[in-house]
Amino acid sequence: MKTTSRNFKDIQWGADEAKGDKLLETYFVRIPEYDALLNGDYRYVIGRKGTGKTAIIQRIIAEAESNYNFFYKYLSLKDFPIQDLREFAARGMNHKARYVPIWTFLIAIELCKLIIEDNSICEQEEVLELKKFISTNFPQQIGFAETIEVLTNNGKEVKVALSWLQGGCSSETSINTMVPIHYQKITDILLNYIKQVNTDSIYFLLFDELDEGYKKGDKNLNLLLLALLRAVENTALQFSDSHIQYRPVLALRTDIFNSLEDNDLNKLDDYIIHLKWTQEYGSPYSLRDLVNARINASIHTANPMDPWGCVVYDSDPALPRRVETLWKYVYNQTFERPRDIIKYMKYCSKELKTPGVLTYATVQKAEANYSQWFYREFRDEAQSFLPIYNDVLQAITNVGKGRFTFEEICEKFNENTNIQTYMTDNKVNQKEILEYLFHVGVIGTYDDRNKKWLFYYKDDDLPFDVAKEMIVHYGFAKKLRIHY
Ligand SMILES: Nc1ncnc2c1ncn2[C@@H]1O[C@H](COP(=O)(O)OP(=O)(O)OP(=O)(O)O)[C@@H](O)[C@H]1O
Ligand SMILES: [Mg+2]
Repeated sequence: MKTTSRNFKDIQWGADEAKGDKLLETYFVRIPEYDALLNGDYRYVIGRKGTGKTAIIQRIIAEAESNYNFFYKYLSLKDFPIQDLREFAARGMNHKARYVPIWTFLIAIELCKLIIEDNSICEQEEVLELKKFISTNFPQQIGFAETIEVLTNNGKEVKVALSWLQGGCSSETSINTMVPIHYQKITDILLNYIKQVNTDSIYFLLFDELDEGYKKGDKNLNLLLLALLRAVENTALQFSDSHIQYRPVLALRTDIFNSLEDNDLNKLDDYIIHLKWTQEYGSPYSLRDLVNARINASIHTANPMDPWGCVVYDSDPALPRRVETLWKYVYNQTFERPRDIIKYMKYCSKELKTPGVLTYATVQKAEANYSQWFYREFRDEAQSFLPIYNDVLQAITNVGKGRFTFEEICEKFNENTNIQTYMTDNKVNQKEILEYLFHVGVIGTYDDRNKKWLFYYKDDDLPFDVAKEMIVHYGFAKKLRIHY
């Protein structure tokens, strides 16, 4: 039951991970591409940490659960036996294509399982064939990872009815005789059976958490991910002229996607959604709308069009001189990602001891905890790309101020032996390290002409220019003990 309130503390901000968040439906903000994603016009959701990749997948799951003809499988690569998958590198193929057959097979198996779950078509001959195939080879309700295990234990072979190999005209004996065969030889036949299934159901394969355990420079892992993308593309293409409505949706972190160097990636461009939020309200990808949706989901306010204004003292006169609103103050400490702002609100709620609206004083109290958290989120992204991130940020603290020149920060880099060793061992220089910090938003640069601070996360065409003055992102200020 929602009550009418002006108390900031009455707002339930919800979980900061979308995975398993039962309340998500009550405050989900639709991205403009959402319907096209359901229709199969998009299949890749790319975004930084905390931008809502899983939220979109969770939303599709909720949709599938309430639609009789939607079927889905959530495929997490967390705890996936990557090492075992490596054993499946196909021989005689160039290194880029080696893992495509195993991914294609895994996709075909998952799709088969969804199809045989679909009672509306269980009498169709092809479905009966697929059912027999699955019950012979992968009898338990096993997942993605176990399919690999079963295949490994069976010497990469599966059993199929002899009739499958005889191309249609089949005797009773050939239907009932099961023969072992290498999995690769059967994938096309499986896909063909799937193609012939006649249904108006929609089958979603939802790939998430591909970034778990990602390490930069792990060429093999890059190949595995590229092969997965290729297998998704190939299968989508194969089913495009059949009755099967196959909807693969793959969520991937921006930094990892960008590090997958491959000429073929450009071809995916039309199918990619880049999650990028802004502060404008009433516009697509509005973070203010996202925050408002959460407030409206837990309380009634006097103005449901702008509940923020009802529970926050937005024009608090205590705010620093050049900051117009509390919203801007908070917003400037985020990377414009939903998780950042939600997390900040939760820390504020914790600090607020009395009923009433949120004020600048409370935000100030929450700032240190938020900054610590913000730093840890950065660390999760940075550790595979810049293992000495900690020393590098310490060097920024050592500069002693939030704005500095290239020469000033280089001096501090040069005083740190870990950074020195890292630069020598990896053949990188100070500029490249700073460029990385610039690309992930830890630092921005000053535009003399327009008298503005510029950040790459707000404009990805922005070049990095060492001649410009640099500034540390406000979200790190408290953690790095920086004053501007
Ligand atoms: N469209 C949305 N509507 C409402 N809330 C959202 C939306 N997108 C993201 N959020 C919220 O933002 C937070 C982060 O989202 P999510 O967990 O989906 O991020 P992610 O991109 O999957 O991050 P990670 O890379 O760490 O897995 C969650 O609390 C989620 O509920
Ligand atoms: Mg996620």
